[in-house]
Amino acid sequence: MNDALLFISALFSLHWMMRRISTIALTALLAFFSGNFVLAQSDSGEQYRPLLHFTPVRGWMNDPNGLVLNQGVYHLFYQHYPDGNKWGPMHWGHATSSDMLHWQHRPIALYPDSLGYIFSGSAVVDKNNTSGFGSKEKPALVAIYTYHDAKAAEAGKINYQTQGIAYSLDNGKSWTKYAKNPVLMNPGIIDFRDPKVSWYAAGKKWVMALAVKDHIEFYSSANLKNWQKESAFGETIGAHGGVWECPDLFPLTIAGKQQWVLIVNINPGGPNGGSATQYFVGSFDGKTFTPHDTETRWLDDGPDNYAGVTFDNTSKRRLFIGWMSNWLYGQDVPTTRWRSATTLPRELNLLSVEGKPLVASMPAREIRVLEKTSKTGDGFRSFNQWLQANRDSLFRLDFTIPTRDFSMVISNDKGQQLTWGYEAGSNQLFIDRSASGNTGFNADFGKKVFASRKSKKDVVRLTCIVDRSSIELYADDGLTVMTAIFFPDQTFTKLAVATGETKGAWRASTLKPAVGKAGK
Ligand code: FRU
Repeated sequence: MNDALLFISALFSLHWMMRRISTIALTALLAFFSGNFVLAQSDSGEQYRPLLHFTPVRGWMNDPNGLVLNQGVYHLFYQHYPDGNKWGPMHWGHATSSDMLHWQHRPIALYPDSLGYIFSGSAVVDKNNTSGFGSKEKPALVAIYTYHDAKAAEAGKINYQTQGIAYSLDNGKSWTKYAKNPVLMNPGIIDFRDPKVSWYAAGKKWVMALAVKDHIEFYSSANLKNWQKESAFGETIGAHGGVWECPDLFPLTIAGKQQWVLIVNINPGGPNGGSATQYFVGSFDGKTFTPHDTETRWLDDGPDNYAGVTFDNTSKRRLFIGWMSNWLYGQDVPTTRWRSATTLPRELNLLSVEGKPLVASMPAREIRVLEKTSKTGDGFRSFNQWLQANRDSLFRLDFTIPTRDFSMVISNDKGQQLTWGYEAGSNQLFIDRSASGNTGFNADFGKKVFASRKSKKDVVRLTCIVDRSSIELYADDGLTVMTAIFFPDQTFTKLAVATGETKGAWRASTLKPAVGKAGK
């Protein structure tokens, strides 16, 4: 290279470096001041970024982790790969909120270390200071998670998943990993992960539900450090079309009687393909879970609610958040700068159907504060008028309708549409995203998906929440739920009752975006 060329190339390098530094500085400044910001629409599928549902600023997200309420702050940790838009070395991303809707992004809480990637797990408030990490006056927040040793896995070993713990004494701002990790060694099983820990008051001990390949194992501990196996559940019960992951065990009361709910995520083998969440209702004595029956039941029959678990320390309320995607196509959806959203926070309760306690999920009541304009009516003629007047793609509809066929449609000027409704003959709800826009990234994405109503009532009560690129359907007070994501080339701004039933009482509300506002 001659001198002139060298000089020019040096200038270019300098220019490139300056540009890179200023881009980094600008990004950092933006991230610092806004806490949560939405990028220009042209950037990598930003038109799909939800206005209400939580998304990472950039990079990959899957399971919600460590859901816990502490000192009025809801913590959402999540499986995160910040350096890419597909699954990679897992970190725990972190966000906080005072209402589970307005999230503020926080620095990454847990980074991979020499023991492995940081896989899914839970967090608890150690009020009695059983771990000795804090004090009774200043209890520690303790995270219990899976270490996934990728190098050991590559080397063909089978015992590469173990459980570790970390603690925070400043309500989640900074974390210290326990020096004697792992706290639970692998007994020689490939799938050994996703510890969900809670305080079992009746036995004054911690209980851990752990996913072990095709069953759940229960462990107990006095101090979160030493764990003892108590029992195993489920090898021959429930759905087994895939590996069992991300369990949760918690009590719920119905008619004054306490029942125990065991959530078991499964991938694949869901009712509409890919990943999904099943649950069992039964009893738990501190050691063993015994289901009331062996029927397979789904918390959400739609394709896009996976790895969901509930918050710890929320007193009598049981609040759930899931990953609003599916391992079938989660890494291929047409957003590239960021990938995946969480479901809305949902409150779980037991409802009795033909004498059996079933789990019902409804949007957490906090969402009511986001209602902007609301209108009620009877009969769907005026309903269509309200919808024509509303050009928003963020809304909530509640209606009751007799059990005859009906469908609703949201669409754009390009003729793309999403349809959902009810088929009386089979007593099924459905979502049809075959013409919803970009569906080509997965052969099964456009398949019409169905959910059998668990209720036999002759009136369907339906709550629908649409947020740009997702729909959540809650039928019969949440006994049957469907969640689905979709990717139109242009936002769906028109909404109409497409076919069938025209009678029915309704309430429609536009919602205020929650993204972009700083939380607590
Ligand atoms: C569920 C899951 C968990 C695991 C995590 C890894 O989606 O496979 O079992 O801990 O994701 O990211």
